Amino acid sequence: MKRQALVVANWKMHGQRSWVDRFVHELSQGLMPALAVQAVLCPPYVYLAQLHRLLAETNVLLGAQNMHSAQQGAFTGEVSAAMLLDSGCRYVILGHSERRTLFREDDREVAVKLEAAKQAGLIPIVCIGENAEERAAGLTEQVVKRQLDAVLLHAGQDAFSGSVIAYEPVWAIGTGNTATPEQAQSVHEFVRRYVARHDRFAADVLPIIYGGSVKAANAQALAAQPDIDGALVGGASLVPEDFLAICQGFDAMQVSV
Ligand code: PGA
Repeated sequence: MKRQALVVANWKMHGQRSWVDRFVHELSQGLMPALAVQAVLCPPYVYLAQLHRLLAETNVLLGAQNMHSAQQGAFTGEVSAAMLLDSGCRYVILGHSERRTLFREDDREVAVKLEAAKQAGLIPIVCIGENAEERAAGLTEQVVKRQLDAVLLHAGQDAFSGSVIAYEPVWAIGTGNTATPEQAQSVHEFVRRYVARHDRFAADVLPIIYGGSVKAANAQALAAQPDIDGALVGGASLVPEDFLAICQGFDAMQVSV
């Protein structure tokens, strides 16, 4: 069995209808159709329907950047997992560090969302990672373990089967300071071993992707690491050629498990 490489574009709060049209056009002009890597685009909610139409004839999948954990109800401004599925999403990013810091999402809320996403049939991409102070204090593994434990506690031992984990050191996001492939590999390996303690099979097939200043220039070196199965890309995912180059960097990577 193989872990297919997964490259996820997190457009954050960027885009515009005409730009979205152009982006997909350029992507399909590029080598996208020939690639074995699974590419996923996560636009702001308002562009989901447009992208769903545009991606219909491609092998690129659709994802969202967040969701609410309830199925429906009086939650002004929120969107449920079922609505995302209904809009064509297969994936949803949960617990991104910007959600955790700017919108005060905590470990428990992320865990509740993961369960709701899985129940609805979405594949959650759970973001974890330490900040600069925590890394400097040697707390990286402790922080990541706490974030994983919160999910395991709420969603059970098999929480990560059918999920994706994105290791995104906060100090690397949007800063240009990518973790070295060795730094990232060491945390990815720790995460896989930790998940294996609870669910061996899930750990073997679990895609663990890296995020934090991934660009065309460092994609291949990251992809060469045995436990780095793809990338969650912010800034560079806004430029079609860069996003394609990152996908190509991961394309050769197919890990046998
Ligand atoms: P970046 O963002 O690639 O711009 O560092 C990554 C992310 O926030 O997921």
